[in-house]
Amino acid sequence: MTTTPALDMERLRADFAVFEELVGGRPIAYLDSASSTQKPRQVLDRMRHFYEHEYANVHRGVYRLSERATEAYEGARSTVAAFLNAPSEREVIFTRNATEAINLVAYAWGLDNLGPGDVVVITELEHHANFVPWQYVASRTGASFRHIPIDDLGELQLDALEALARVGRVKVVATGLVSNALGTVNPVEKLAAWAHEQGAIMVVDAAQAAPHRAVDVQALGCDFLALSSHKLCGPTGVGALWGRRELLESMAPFNLGGEMISSVSLEQTTFNELPHKFEAGTPAIAEAVGFGAAIDYVQAVGLEAIELHEHALTVYAMERLAELDWVRVFGPPASRRTGIVSFDIEGVHPHDVAQILDWDGVAVRAGHHCAQPLMTRLGVVATTRASFYLYSIQEEVDRLIDGLHKVKQSLG
Ligand SMILES: Cc1ncc(COP(=O)(O)O)c(C=O)c1O
Repeated sequence: MTTTPALDMERLRADFAVFEELVGGRPIAYLDSASSTQKPRQVLDRMRHFYEHEYANVHRGVYRLSERATEAYEGARSTVAAFLNAPSEREVIFTRNATEAINLVAYAWGLDNLGPGDVVVITELEHHANFVPWQYVASRTGASFRHIPIDDLGELQLDALEALARVGRVKVVATGLVSNALGTVNPVEKLAAWAHEQGAIMVVDAAQAAPHRAVDVQALGCDFLALSSHKLCGPTGVGALWGRRELLESMAPFNLGGEMISSVSLEQTTFNELPHKFEAGTPAIAEAVGFGAAIDYVQAVGLEAIELHEHALTVYAMERLAELDWVRVFGPPASRRTGIVSFDIEGVHPHDVAQILDWDGVAVRAGHHCAQPLMTRLGVVATTRASFYLYSIQEEVDRLIDGLHKVKQSLG
């Protein structure tokens, strides 16, 4: 039997300069990593080195500096491919973020493959990034737009699938692997199997999963998978789409212009091979290199250790919140969620909660978390959300609880 060693928090937190800054004598209690994560020096150093010593535009130059830049950029693509266990790095497309990756599929696959009688299935838990593009493309093409409902714990009700299959030809099933608002881990393997039985493609939004647990596109059995660098200790401005090669090859391009062409004449344009067909224009080169460095960093820390660490914090946070009978916690038990805890204090708007917590340097997110259909289902307009990452510590949860007592005293 092997055991995963606990994270060395002192050493890890020293990688993040943000914790050296003090708010009221203490470091920020950053509990908003589901929104975006802090960046370690290793990632920033890699980007700085790239800009100072390896920078030029990619793919075009025959001079050495451009070749080095191309090598670094394409090296980052290999890193993403290996991280996702993709069969080929040519199936990895760099995008601006997870949102753009999903839009790419919705437009480039959806517009040509959906029509009246077809059904697009999403979930009631979905982030708007994996909801709105499908709703829009369904309405553009005349396809039906349906959802898998959730139960009161925020978990998908798979017994609704049978009825969904009767609505028409299910052509797309799009779901998040982990809910950004509740932390629910969705049964994507099961859904992928069902999608394929229906003849549908399976699109997975892994923006909230890939930073926290091992994601294997082959084990999931999906057809497309999206993620963002900035939720994974990497820079903003870059993300990735993995797609099955035969699907990507069959699809029309998404953006058009330089880089994505094979040849252009006044009469016609032919398109480049994968992955370049989907990467029009100068990409976010240094950001892609930083994305690769972030994956290296997270893998060096160890995804299994990160998952265990976040789980322990989630169990602790849920126990501490359960002591407060004026706080309502949403979502499933800690064993079926990641490091995300959403809650509500009756009679107090989440924005006020977050504001008061900020006075003591506790940063949480308050709002609808880009999941308005879910908020409607929960019967709230917003929640307060604390979310953890590899650098989060128990003391920050204690500060959150102390802050909530202050909220209760001032407003409750
Ligand atoms: C589950 C989920 N999907 C998609 C996104 C969109 O990510 P991005 O804003 O990086 O495109 C987010 C961001 O919060 C998310 O949590």
